[in-house]
Amino acid sequence: MERARVGAVGDFADGAMVRVEAGGKAWVVARDGDDWFAFPDRCTHAKRPLSDGDFEAGVVTCVYHGATFDLRQGGKPTMPAIRPLACHAVAVEGEDVFVTLG
Ligand code: FES
Repeated sequence: MERARVGAVGDFADGAMVRVEAGGKAWVVARDGDDWFAFPDRCTHAKRPLSDGDFEAGVVTCVYHGATFDLRQGGKPTMPAIRPLACHAVAVEGEDVFVTLG
């Protein structure tokens, strides 16, 4: 499975989302303590960037129409989004952070 290095641990503040480029696409990496999440920077509702929104306690809120995605429940959405957000694996190896792209 293809994966890409997206930065160093210090690039990702606890409780924040960071937009990164990998594999020719935009992604968001979010960190909540020791829990790391990665997902496409594209809301499943109207394809706007989720990196413009908020992240708190493992839940992303889209700033455009208010949908939320629970990353601890497989990206489970609330209205107006219907489709879950695709969550991708994050690996922290030493100081390096990798995202599985495929
Ligand atoms: S684009 Fe995200 S809720 Fe509409």
